[in-house]
Amino acid sequence: MSTGGFDRKLTSYGDAGFSKFLRRAFLASAGLDAVDLSKPVIGIANTASDYTTCHRDMPALLDAVKRGVLEAGGIPFQFTTMSIPEILVNPTSMLFRNLMAMEVEEQITAQPMDAVVLLGGCDKTVPAELMAAASADIPAISLVVGPMMTGNWRGERLGACTDCRRLWTDYRGGVLDEDEIAEVNTELCPTAGTCMVMGTASTMGCVLEALGMTLPRAGTAPAVSSERLRLGVATGRRAVELAVADLRPSEILTREAFENAMVALAAISGSTNAIIHLTAIARRLGIELTIDDFHAASQRVPVLVDAKPAGSRYLPDMHIAGGMPALLKELEPLLHRSPVTVGGPTMGELLDGWAPPAGHQDMIRPLGEPLKPAGALVALHGSLFPDGAIIKAAAASPHLMSHRGKAVVFDSLDDLAERMDDPAVGIEPDDVLVLRNIGPAAIGMPEAGAIPIPRYLAEQGVRDMVRISDGRMSGTAYGTVILHGSPEAAVGGPLALVRDGDIIELDVKAQRLELLVGEEELERRRAEYVPPVRPPQRGWRRLYAERVQQARLGADLDFL
Ligand code: FES
Ligand code: MG
Repeated sequence: MSTGGFDRKLTSYGDAGFSKFLRRAFLASAGLDAVDLSKPVIGIANTASDYTTCHRDMPALLDAVKRGVLEAGGIPFQFTTMSIPEILVNPTSMLFRNLMAMEVEEQITAQPMDAVVLLGGCDKTVPAELMAAASADIPAISLVVGPMMTGNWRGERLGACTDCRRLWTDYRGGVLDEDEIAEVNTELCPTAGTCMVMGTASTMGCVLEALGMTLPRAGTAPAVSSERLRLGVATGRRAVELAVADLRPSEILTREAFENAMVALAAISGSTNAIIHLTAIARRLGIELTIDDFHAASQRVPVLVDAKPAGSRYLPDMHIAGGMPALLKELEPLLHRSPVTVGGPTMGELLDGWAPPAGHQDMIRPLGEPLKPAGALVALHGSLFPDGAIIKAAAASPHLMSHRGKAVVFDSLDDLAERMDDPAVGIEPDDVLVLRNIGPAAIGMPEAGAIPIPRYLAEQGVRDMVRISDGRMSGTAYGTVILHGSPEAAVGGPLALVRDGDIIELDVKAQRLELLVGEEELERRRAEYVPPVRPPQRGWRRLYAERVQQARLGADLDFL
């Protein structure tokens, strides 16, 4: 076994012999002897943090991975990385994905390791680590902490966070009282693990399997299951083999692997955030994915997985039904067989070996009897967003798919918070809610695109309206919500020029979203336009605002 080990990437003291000598002295201080130093070094990126509550059980998973590494003859070296807690970080986790990607890439690149295990799970951690590994291009294998189990309230199963949103809407509409919503609150996240609907975390876990960057079944095994620990051990063992074989992400993450991922994304009706993340990861490898590529995949592939928010169940159910291997088997005619997976076999060889469990087709439907028809995700074009926008049609209301209404414009999140529930604003159910200055360059693209229904309309029973923004929406959310509009208002997109009362027309079937205001009038408004927000003046936020690209390019920094 010759993998370089701790002699890789010597620290620069100008004398290689001395560098090695010094390094060995300090490794000896950590208890490593000559036998240890002869083994492949497996770095383990540890994203545990008290703030990232869904990573609560990561220490146990880390131990399992370490055991696997040791069993296979490697030396496990965990290193802590930045963690990004989806719910506890202000203003939005997305502002930090690229920072974490840079940080992890530099740790992988600067420190001696022959392969790396990427432990993650929460929404931004998995894409950040994949972006890092794609750029560093050393042997890498991903492992998520796995989804939570579901909770229970008065006999009803609950889970984070599609049910969080639905029940909060009920509370705002007066259907639930203070005590009831407080009871609900303790049942939404009942165990360790990531949000167990098909939100971004679950989506990325599933997508990892389709990409071939994690072991089979590792996308869906519950966080609290013993299988999760066994996957940890197996991942550790495999990481040593990857180090020896020198199998790199660039050999796994090919255009065809991304095409398989787009097919899987459509079949799970995955989070719209995955579009941005996959685009960013692919671009790190020089592969260009467009919203029209995602649209095309979605037109070919119906929704097969019955998970919220598009369906009715949860990730642990999907796992019992065979998880991603069962789904990929159903999708077999649509998949490329040639991509190599991190476990060793090609996708084709894996497919040949899989037999989904009996009865799985209730949860994971066959291609011929889908949960929802193809077209779950639609790319929109037109005058409001010249570079496109998207809508998750599978989570939208059928009666709003073709709609024309008057714009009610909010300039910022503060403006929204201030005026949204004020009946004096006089919003009507047929109006189109427009929220701008929440794009990547403005404030890092928060998940505020699913604009709440004004309280006074919610109380009248209005549950959905057409909502438009340059931001994102949580993968756990639903509604007729148009997202990722490019170019965003903050970089001068037409969205910046919309005024109250302008007519906006949506036609999902025709893939059109039009701002029905004449070119001359828009030019007049453009001449008068004053940007409402001052860009950040220092630190990461300044670098981010200056160099972030639009959503359609993955919202990565332009120099990465
Ligand atoms: Fe981490 Fe939902 S908060 S996955
Ligand atoms: Mg999320």
